[in-house]
Amino acid sequence: MRDPHPSPPPQAGEGMRDPHPSPPPHAGEGMRDPHPSPPPQAGEGSARVGWGVLGAAWIAGRAVLPAIAASRNGRLVSIASRDAERARKLAGEHSIERVAADYDAVLADPDVDAVYIPLVNNLHLEWTERAFAAGKHVLCEKPLGMNAREAERMAESSARAGLLLMEAFMYRFHPRPRAFVEGLRGKDVLHLHSTFGFREADRANYRMRRELGGGALLDVGCYTVNAARWILGEPEVVLAQATIDPEAHVDVSTGALLKFAGGATASVWCSFESGEDQRLIVVTSDDGTSALGRPFSAWRDPDDPYQLMVESFADSILEGTPVELPLDDTIANMRVLDRIREAAGF
Ligand SMILES: NC(=O)c1ccc[n+]([C@@H]2O[C@H](COP(=O)([O-])OP(=O)(O)OC[C@H]3O[C@@H](n4cnc5c(N)ncnc54)[C@H](OP(=O)(O)O)[C@@H]3O)[C@@H](O)[C@H]2O)c1
Repeated sequence: MRDPHPSPPPQAGEGMRDPHPSPPPHAGEGMRDPHPSPPPQAGEGSARVGWGVLGAAWIAGRAVLPAIAASRNGRLVSIASRDAERARKLAGEHSIERVAADYDAVLADPDVDAVYIPLVNNLHLEWTERAFAAGKHVLCEKPLGMNAREAERMAESSARAGLLLMEAFMYRFHPRPRAFVEGLRGKDVLHLHSTFGFREADRANYRMRRELGGGALLDVGCYTVNAARWILGEPEVVLAQATIDPEAHVDVSTGALLKFAGGATASVWCSFESGEDQRLIVVTSDDGTSALGRPFSAWRDPDDPYQLMVESFADSILEGTPVELPLDDTIANMRVLDRIREAAGF
């Protein structure tokens, strides 16, 4: 199998390709025994969550495996891939204890407490539920599901199993966007502009495959909508237009205008057709305009949002506390993505 991301160009895509860029059940009610497999021993000072990884995905090797390896409360136990050689390569590079025969064997491993799922988007629901059936907590890549209904079902499964689930929206853990949003508190926001675009030149990539959950809105539009909602809350009105690739039938550029209670508006835009473009610009009624460069991607700048994210998730497992990014918020984000799709007619 070819490397899906041969020496990625700096500043393409989700930041991870840029080495110098610049970010939670629901413990919840009605949980039954949250640890069908014995929990890692919390309170001993050296407790570490045992992680399993489903798929030798690019983002795993680029960002999340190094983050878990460097984390203060996790260890990499097992990985599987459809291509054992790719799994072996990642295991060697990141000191993963074992390569399992397949995803099910990762889930069957008693030393695995939590799994990280970086599979193509249409497999997130299935493997999250299979992980819960095996008694494992799940950190799942964004977008959590293909649509809000899938995300709701995943949240219900999490609550039923009494196991944690969080969407891997790493930028929400980075101190820089956190400080930016905090700095807007109390200000009267009139308009927000949020963009994330890059050129997806590989037509074989899953991003250009509709059935695998491709399209710019699911891939990077989820960030632009998340930022708008983080600052302004839930939109009342959603208008949108998209450009659909005539062969792949995925949206390659989508723009939307959101209107919020009180009158503020947000323009969000995502694309596979542009050069690297990430912006978060906020116009306020008092002192004008605030802008955050490269809002959505960062990697050891020196903060590593991936490490902050996996440590937060492992803390929730070890301490029995709710995850930091609540599933209600993830579902609300997916609902806006659904409304954008509906408004744009794809
Ligand atoms: N948070 C971030 O910064 C960030 C950045 C990029 C991507 N992501 C997310 O991470 C996930 C993976 O993205 P990626 O760019 O790393 O993709 P990728 O390298 O193509 O990895 C996707 C994985 O899905 C599995 N897969 C199963 N069926 C497949 C199929 N028919 N075609 C291709 N792969 C298939 C493969 O696992 P095997 O190893 O078993 O073959 C592959 O390793 C997506 O959900 C994406 O939204 C997040």
